[in-house]
This record gives sequence, structure tokens and C-alpha cells, in this order.
Amino acid sequence: AQAEIGLIGLGTMGAALALNIAEKGFPIAVWNRTTEVTHRFHAGAGELAEQVVPTETLEELVAKIAEPRTIILMVPAGPAVDDQLAALTPLLGQDDLVIDAGNADFHDTNRRSEAGLPFRFLGMGVSGGEEGARHGPSIMAGGTAADWDRIGKVLTAISAKAEDGSPCAARMGDAGAGHFVKMVHNGIEYADMQMIAEVYGLLRDGMDKSAGQISAIFDNWNNGPLQSYLIEISAKVTAASDPHGDRPMVDMILDRAGQKGTGRWTAIEAQHLAAPIPVIEAAVMARNVSARLDERKAGEERFGAPATGIDLPPQVLEQALIAGKILCYAQGFLMIEGAAKSFGWSLDLPGIARVWRAGCIIRSAMLNDMADALAEDPGRNLAMAPYFADLIEKALPALRQVVANGIAAGHPLPALASGLMWFDMMRTARGTANMIQAQRDFFGAHGFERIDGIADEHGPWGSSQ
Ligand code: 6PG
Repeated sequence: AQAEIGLIGLGTMGAALALNIAEKGFPIAVWNRTTEVTHRFHAGAGELAEQVVPTETLEELVAKIAEPRTIILMVPAGPAVDDQLAALTPLLGQDDLVIDAGNADFHDTNRRSEAGLPFRFLGMGVSGGEEGARHGPSIMAGGTAADWDRIGKVLTAISAKAEDGSPCAARMGDAGAGHFVKMVHNGIEYADMQMIAEVYGLLRDGMDKSAGQISAIFDNWNNGPLQSYLIEISAKVTAASDPHGDRPMVDMILDRAGQKGTGRWTAIEAQHLAAPIPVIEAAVMARNVSARLDERKAGEERFGAPATGIDLPPQVLEQALIAGKILCYAQGFLMIEGAAKSFGWSLDLPGIARVWRAGCIIRSAMLNDMADALAEDPGRNLAMAPYFADLIEKALPALRQVVANGIAAGHPLPALASGLMWFDMMRTARGTANMIQAQRDFFGAHGFERIDGIADEHGPWGSSQ
């Protein structure tokens, strides 16, 4: 029998996705550059092996898939995708469809979509790590509606399901829209992680809490408004012991964060779009600073470590994190809204919040309410939606207290603090850009607008130069 779908690339994510597809009842042909990997995968597929067709060449893969063919690419983002598309070019017809399911840069997906490939092409963001890929990821696709309709049945079947049963898989828009939304997802992922890490740092260094005590606090928060996958795993990682000794595992891990680039892309793209996303930018910055371990050691030797003796109840930290999270998502959704306008994509903001409710790394209880608030008015700053404005109003004193106490004692809180800075700027009607405009006009005759409508574009600086 012909396979219904094909998959190229049996690394961790590809293998998990292939098993998921097979399990949902779709016979799948698979191919990997190293044939041994393909056979090992097939042999390890257990009772799903019947649904899996291992192939040894690309020609064989193509021959084993029913027409019109659909092939999922799960190879490392970048040149490997272009190489694979080139290799498939002589083998596929114009009705065949290739789906790039890696973490591609959305600009590459735009380029590939416009390159006149001799087959159909979808770019698809997949979130949820190996576990998600195996049992239900969140899926953000970009391409034509017709191509989505053709394969949407399979993709919704393998996707995570929200509590109300709806699939966390959707077409975001044309071309690179899916990978764009996945990129912002990852930016928010960085920010969520960083804010949790900042609170962890305050508990550890400002309040002398042990990893076990911190774990209990996170665990408790996971039953409240902060309920989320990232809080859940933070409770788990702080509870684990080092197998090579009996110290907490987290205490044995070097504080130097890795990054593959998607957070950085979000920050760079935000600058192109003039979209303020300071919480995400702070999270990327913090990872970059974390890499400078030797310089940080020298800094502490010269200036001393942050002070302990901070006294903040866990409820205050929880409220600060709630506020920070809302502000971070508000920024992320405004960036998506800006991209929709700039790129001419009709991105469905509440739909994006719904797709993030399950399966993905940033899944959380709060996304339900965010989807509802965005449905009322997608272009609005989420912090101004009545439901979230009330939450912010309640949590803001805690955020101020945490940031003020932390900063006073020398604890770096870049993400939480920059969320607060952004909020305070966004609710200040009379800011200080009049000063910037005056300076610009002084040294460069750049002109300015007046508050009284008089059409005087330049200041009387001539004589004082
Ligand atoms: C996901 C993750 C996934 C991957 C990140 C990690 O949604 O499943 O975002 O895509 O874990 O790329 O990114 P860093 O290596 O940059 O932290």
C-alpha cells in the first residue's frame, strides 16, 4: 500500500513526529540521509512499525507516497533545507507538497515560497519539544489556504488539543507567517523563562532559599494563575538531585545559557518593525551576558555580590510574575499585530493565543483569557483589555516592590524591570520625547510638531548655537 505522507529527517523531532503520524492512523514513508538510522527507527517503532515504510533512497521515498504527495522535512534549519528542496526538485510534480517543519527563519520561508519551486510548499512551526512532537505539538503553518486544507486533516489529528478539545494547529497566513509566529513564540519562551529565572535568583540569592524550597513555591504557583508548563518544569528541575552526588541538580549546572537563535531573531525583527518588546530583548540580552562568565567573575570580585536579606512573601513574587507575564505577552502580540500590517498578513491574534494553549512550550492557563481578550479587540494592548487591566492594577504594586527591592540590593532583574519600564511609558500621556525633538532640531534642524498646532517647525536656537 502507498503511504499517505512522507517524512525526511529522523532526528529526535522527526522520529517523534513520524511515530505520532503513524499512531494517528496515517501510513508514513520515512527517509534519513543515513540508511542505518532509518532501519533502526523502523525496528524501534514497535506496533507502529506496520504503519511505517522505511526507504533507502529519495527516489524510493517518493515512489512509496500516494499522489499528490506530501513530504514533511524535519532537517536542521538553514542550508540543509535548501539542499533537500534541491534534491527533491527533479523527483516531485507541481501538485506535490513539501512542508518545512523545522525552526526556519521566516525570511527563508518567504524566500523559498517565492522562489518558484516546482512543487507546493508550506512552512510550519512546530513547538513542544520531543514529547510534543510525539504526542501532540502546537502547529503554526504558513502557506496557501488550499495547501493547508489538503493536509490540515493530518496536522490537526497529530496536534495537541486544548481543554475544550479544539486542535492546536492552524494556518497562520501566507508563506513565512507560520515560522514568524513560531519565532515570536520562541521569543516569548525566552522571556517567560528569564522572568522565572529572575524570581528564582531573588529567592536563591536575596532570600537564601534552597532549591527544594524554591521548588515548593513554584509547585504552589502552578495551581494558581501562573499555571503553565514552564512553571511546572521549573518546580521539577529545582526538585531534582544530582545523580553524581546529593546536591540539587540545578545547583550543579553552570550558569551559561545556550541559544540557537530564534529569540535573537525575534529581537532583531522587532527592531525592523519598530515593535517595542523589551522583555524579550532583555531575555536575549541576559543569555548573552550569561555567556561572559569570566568577566562576571571579575565583576563580582571588584564590586561584590548582590546583598541577601530581601524579605518578600512568595505571594508578592507571584503577583510580580503575573504582571510581568501579561506585559511580556502584550508586547509579543503587539509585535505580531505590527507584522501583520507590515507584511500584509491577516494574522488571527486570538487564534494564535488559542494555538498556544496546549502542546507548545509556552502553554499556560492564561492563554485562554488572552484569546478572549484579543477576540474583543485584536489590535489592542493586552494590558488595556479590561480583564487584564484589572489584573495588572492588582499586581503592579508587587511588581514595583520586587523590582525596587531587587535593584536596591543589586540583583539583576532585566526582564521584569523592562516590562515595568514599558508599562510606565505606555501609560504616560506626556512623555519626554519633546526633549529629544528639541535636541534633534537644535543640532540637525530636523523640525518638530507643536502642541498648539502652530506651523512653526523649528526652534529659536539660531543665536545660541
Ligand atoms: C519549542 C522550542 C524549540 C526549541 C528552541 C530552543 O517550541 O519546542 O522553542 O523550538 O527548544 O529552539 O531554543 P534555544 O536553543 O534557542 O533555547
